[in-house]
Amino acid sequence: MSDTVDDVDLPYDEDEASQQEKIQALEERLEVLEAQNEEMRDKLLDANAENNKYQQKLERLTHENKKLKQSPLFVATVQEITDEGVIIKQHGNNQEALTEVTDEMRSELEPDDRVAVNNSLSIVKPLSNETDVRARVMEVTESPDVSYEDIGGLEEQMQEVRETVEMPLEKPDMFDDVGIDPPSGVLLYGPPGTGKTMLAKAVANETDATFIKMAGSELVHKFIGEGAKLVRDLFDVAREHEPAVIFIDEIDAIAAKRTESKTSGDAEVQRTMMQLLSEMDGFEERGEIRIIAATNRFDMLDRAILRPGRFDRLIEVPKPSADGREIIFQIHTRNMNVADEVDFAELAEEAEEASGADIKAICTEAGMFAIRDDRTEIQMEDFRNAWDKVQADSSDTEDVSKTFA
Ligand SMILES: Nc1ncnc2c1ncn2[C@@H]1O[C@H](COP(=O)(O)OP(=O)(O)OP(=O)(O)O)[C@@H](O)[C@H]1O
Ligand SMILES: [Mg+2]
Repeated sequence: MSDTVDDVDLPYDEDEASQQEKIQALEERLEVLEAQNEEMRDKLLDANAENNKYQQKLERLTHENKKLKQSPLFVATVQEITDEGVIIKQHGNNQEALTEVTDEMRSELEPDDRVAVNNSLSIVKPLSNETDVRARVMEVTESPDVSYEDIGGLEEQMQEVRETVEMPLEKPDMFDDVGIDPPSGVLLYGPPGTGKTMLAKAVANETDATFIKMAGSELVHKFIGEGAKLVRDLFDVAREHEPAVIFIDEIDAIAAKRTESKTSGDAEVQRTMMQLLSEMDGFEERGEIRIIAATNRFDMLDRAILRPGRFDRLIEVPKPSADGREIIFQIHTRNMNVADEVDFAELAEEAEEASGADIKAICTEAGMFAIRDDRTEIQMEDFRNAWDKVQADSSDTEDVSKTFA
């Protein structure tokens, strides 16, 4: 480049000198810039390499994070939030641990919150309040609206249930004075529609106990994987509401005999039953809690659930006798406009084999026959027609269940 400049014939010397200086200066700057450029490019390369490294680390952490969230987490309760970290208590083994949390997580937590923790006991996420899970399966009623007067033909059974459930709740001192442990629970068994569920509700109504109902079939079919936990929750809720009556309807669904099939559903049911057994065995700490269970599949029950100390009384609730049927007719027609000619004793004789639920259906159907006939008074023949219809309907459903079996 300087050659070209020398070749050029410039008019003034001073000018030429100053031009030369300028060029020199520019050339020097160019050199500096080039050096700087070089340096920048190196830095950029370094930065890129660094970036790559971080990118990889990020990916690894994201993956790890995801895995941590996926692998089973344990449930713990926040005990205390201290300067050193958060103290949690694990469910199950009750061990306490001090764990660190991010500031963000820390601001979300409060003592008594439930959290999910991983293997190394770091809090992964806070959990929603337990009550909403419970509310989905458990029905907690202060007092159900069934009374002993609504139940017909089960005097003996009623007496026995009252002795085992009501007495210990109302007069715990008496058991202390006599020096015996109050019975822990009763199992009601018998054919469908004979008043087992009613009986349990009536007891809860008559005592001031809170009535907590859980249906075994729901537990098993709707909340797969949660069964054992829900059983634990069930007893927790009861402890919170003492005195309480826990009612496990359709207990056969969780306490069925071990079958040959080794499906995972089976294992789940087994775990649920194990939890139930251990809750029932922890009777000492159970306090003012009584258990009533009901089943219409007594034959299916695992014998383990029937061992002493679990259900002290097994109460059979059979189909009603003729006398029982008569009373049940009277109960269900209390608010009905029945003709004087109607003879319930005779109807009771005719409706042999009818369960309480059948009799209720007969009464409703009889009313329908009267309405169809444009009458407001129900006559003997309406009841007879109704019984025929109820029988026909139930044999239909039996046929259906046979085809499906
Ligand atoms: N002994 C009874 N006295 C009066 N009504 C009864 C009697 N038994 C059954 N009923 C009527 O039948 C209905 C169903 O009874 P309940 O639900 O108590 O039967 P269950 O024995 O629990 O049957 P399942 O084994 O099918 O659960 C009751 O709501 C009630 O109207
Ligand atoms: Mg029932």
